[in-house]
Amino acid sequence: MRKAILIIAVAIIYQINYSNIFAQEISMQEKIESLIKKMTLEEKIGMLHASSSFTSGGVERLGVTELIMSDGPHGVRREHGRDWEADETDEDFATYLPTGITLASTWNRELGYVYGTVLGSEANARNKDVILGPGVNIIRSPLNGRNFEYMSEDPYLTAEMSIGYIKGVQEQEVAACIKHYVANNQETLRGSIDAVVSERALREIYLPAFKAAVERADVWSIMTAYNKVNGIFCSESDFLLNQILKQEYGFDGALISDWGAVHSTKETLMHGVDIEMGTELNMLPNADYTKFFLADSAYEAVKKGEVDEKFVDEKIRSILRLMFRVKKFDERVKREMNTPEHQALALKVAEEGIVLLKNENILPIQKKVKKIAVIGNNAIRKHTQYSIQGGSSQVKALYEKTPLEGIQNVAGKDYEISFATGYLTTRENKADEKLVAEAVALAKESDLVVFVGGWVHGYDDSNWGEGTFDAESLDKLNLDLLFEQDKLIEKLAEANPNIVSVIFGGSSAKFGKWSDVSKALLHVWYPGMEGGTAIANILLGIVNPSGKLPVSFAKDYLDYPSHVLGEYPGNETTVNYNEDIFVGYRYFDTFDKLVVYPFGHGLSYTKFDYGKINIPSIDYSKSDKIKFSINITNSGEFNGAEIVQVYVSDKESSLRRPEKELKSFEKIFLNKGETKTVEFQLNKDAFSFYDPETKKWIVEPGEFEILVGASALDIKQTTFITIN
Ligand code: GLC
Repeated sequence: MRKAILIIAVAIIYQINYSNIFAQEISMQEKIESLIKKMTLEEKIGMLHASSSFTSGGVERLGVTELIMSDGPHGVRREHGRDWEADETDEDFATYLPTGITLASTWNRELGYVYGTVLGSEANARNKDVILGPGVNIIRSPLNGRNFEYMSEDPYLTAEMSIGYIKGVQEQEVAACIKHYVANNQETLRGSIDAVVSERALREIYLPAFKAAVERADVWSIMTAYNKVNGIFCSESDFLLNQILKQEYGFDGALISDWGAVHSTKETLMHGVDIEMGTELNMLPNADYTKFFLADSAYEAVKKGEVDEKFVDEKIRSILRLMFRVKKFDERVKREMNTPEHQALALKVAEEGIVLLKNENILPIQKKVKKIAVIGNNAIRKHTQYSIQGGSSQVKALYEKTPLEGIQNVAGKDYEISFATGYLTTRENKADEKLVAEAVALAKESDLVVFVGGWVHGYDDSNWGEGTFDAESLDKLNLDLLFEQDKLIEKLAEANPNIVSVIFGGSSAKFGKWSDVSKALLHVWYPGMEGGTAIANILLGIVNPSGKLPVSFAKDYLDYPSHVLGEYPGNETTVNYNEDIFVGYRYFDTFDKLVVYPFGHGLSYTKFDYGKINIPSIDYSKSDKIKFSINITNSGEFNGAEIVQVYVSDKESSLRRPEKELKSFEKIFLNKGETKTVEFQLNKDAFSFYDPETKKWIVEPGEFEILVGASALDIKQTTFITIN
């Protein structure tokens, strides 16, 4: 009886909730329709384009204020005036979170959600309606200048790490704006290049993160990319925007163009973006937004009957839906910024995102070590303190702890810490012999050398070493370590073989003797405002590293499929994605090509043992949920976290498929000696591929292998199943 009452009560509560949501939707629709009815055509057109650097038009007469946007994916950008000049204010210091690829390296979905919550909270506190992130473009070449802002070479990992981020942001009454839709995988000629991509590669590699954002995170806005895809600009592509996003995925939010990414009036009015943002047409400092494609010429096109006003109304509906969702017409809860909790989250993401690539028993730093020489310009560099900082994703950090500060704060009382800069970041891109000599001398008299170098994404002189740093609108020319850091590391190692190399950057550096002589290698990406503390905590063993590579690290850029099979960056007009679906480990593992460190690789100070896969059957139908579990034991001396990765391999398929594909993962925290059972469940999506002939996702009956491991190449257990 009691159970029956409970069930009825739950049903009633669910019904009330559901009807409340339904009622809210109805009332929102009714309000939207009533607003549209009151608007003049001129007022509607004013909402379809920028009204300043980071706002689009409102209708003051009807109480519709401008839509306010801000970059960026890892922190709320500094205040810009309506004509782009930076405001001189102290009110826009922000939490500088570790960049996207650092977050992806945590493989921690929950951390992604908290990250989004912090970013959304700070955007709300700064009165923004839209935060222009996450950046999710697939990393098909290590040369892309914006890889530091993105997440991975793998679509599943990118999707999983974006979902929490988007939900976290939007729970703060701010719209996330996932970007850049789609196939914006290079900076070279980004404003005009035509990415020629097969539909199968689009579906299996480049679209999944956007699909997940719409279907599983209910993202409220999407930014269209600068480039063309298969001959059509993204901002006016009926196939990409209406057929895929709206009809297939059910997207009903606002489509916002990248800045200057709209190229037509009629095409865009009829099936393009809802809001044209931009700078090129601003004619700064006296911006004239009436010249935008969706401004006067759009008004004329409708007035003359060339384009039906219903297309305009549909765009207004999308924009107003976003405005209602961010509570622009209601009381928005005021959130916080620059709190200790936000800074603690930045530290946590850095600690879990830093990847220990190599460790020849030198880390964590042993007690017997007394004198530590910290050497390298990145040990003292504050990337956010430069006038140019990676482009639009810049953050005016409230503070930024450098590696040297972190090491001094954490280790200063127990160790003798000394420093030498070793190299300078200069146009000449050459070693400074005096600095080298000074650094070598210091290394000689120390017990341990911690070299801190790699790439930069904060610099002053925008012409400096074109294409040699992590930044928007530039691709790297190669992966050679700058300023002859490699030679410096080799000389330091001759002087003192106990050397640890800590490398910053959105990509690896070309591996060689410098990495061979380094007894340990840490890749720290751009670890945010608490990066120095995180690096120190890991070096000293206060934190056990758990990060795993979200990209493959091959020896040099020419080893990557976009350079071997595909094109990068293409020619003046076109870049052919000939590698197709074979991006990253899908290429290296399928074509048996060498990598230095594989996708999913990352060491710990402890050891994890994998039990057998426990799976109840080996025969399944396509509609079955395939459940299995595996015991993981921490058999080492440190508490730690392991990222258990699940790959699927289709042993017989009519189309060539990758040797394996990541289809699930779990990050588990285990005290030393502890064992946990990790459970997995795969549905048909994990076994299907996109068939361009039938234009359907299909699971072909036959044998599949399920591989469980600690990286794409460190497979611990496998089992075979048959799907009938
Ligand atoms: C830039 C970037 C985009 C950014 C926008 C606004 O060109 O491509 O990511 O959000 O303009 O700054």
